Amino acid sequence: MIGVFDSGLGGLSVLAALVEALPRSDFRYYADTAHVPYGNKSEGEIQRRVLAIGNELAGKGCHLLVVACNTATAAAIEALRAAHPGIPVVGVEPGIKPAAQETRSGRIAVLATESTARSARLHKLIRDHAADVDVHVEPCPGWATHVEMLQLDDPALASDARTRLEPLLERGVDRIVLGCTHYSFLAPVLREAIQGRAELVDVADAVARQARRLAARMPAGHGRIHLHASARPERLRAALPHLHLNHLATRVA
Ligand code: DGL
Repeated sequence: MIGVFDSGLGGLSVLAALVEALPRSDFRYYADTAHVPYGNKSEGEIQRRVLAIGNELAGKGCHLLVVACNTATAAAIEALRAAHPGIPVVGVEPGIKPAAQETRSGRIAVLATESTARSARLHKLIRDHAADVDVHVEPCPGWATHVEMLQLDDPALASDARTRLEPLLERGVDRIVLGCTHYSFLAPVLREAIQGRAELVDVADAVARQARRLAARMPAGHGRIHLHASARPERLRAALPHLHLNHLATRVA
């Protein structure tokens, strides 16, 4: 059983990639919907939630944990690893490295929550993998909440996306990193604003490949998904068609 968690619906974008990479594994997905969003919380608050969820998933027999949240990874992955030394933990970090390798203009941007944007971990990632590239970090408050409310076509969101992206595109940014798993579901809105001038960089598939390597020696399951949430758990399954993840619904136990 592989435990996957996020503050809410965003991690379902990672779960979809995990199911594709590991179709016979069983997954337990936990959405911390009583505490979403994480992006405006302190590092201490996020750490407390991550440790509580990690304990719950480990207690339910998960032998691999995927932190399907950039904000939780930045704030708490080390604490989670220290609390469960026997369980491999895979995190999600913004794709700074692929973006820096692929850029032609030498200018990239990362869209993230406020918490990730100010995190020491993101700034180390930039120093380590994009030292000779111009990196703009753009916090996007409220975007994860739009996804939680399934307001993917909200004109106010589209307008905010244009306002944030246009100056970056005018400066020649040609790779835009999705530094929050919720933002994968905003890709159509973002592409509309970008109009072919830059490419989006999403690491969900790379995270799934890493999980598959770590799961290689673990017993196969039955391809089932167990959905849990700290508030309104029924919303999770109901959200799948809105997020174009209907194909996951048949696996839900
Ligand atoms: N999905 C999360 C991330 O990848 C966090 C969104 C939030 O709760 O603010 O950063």
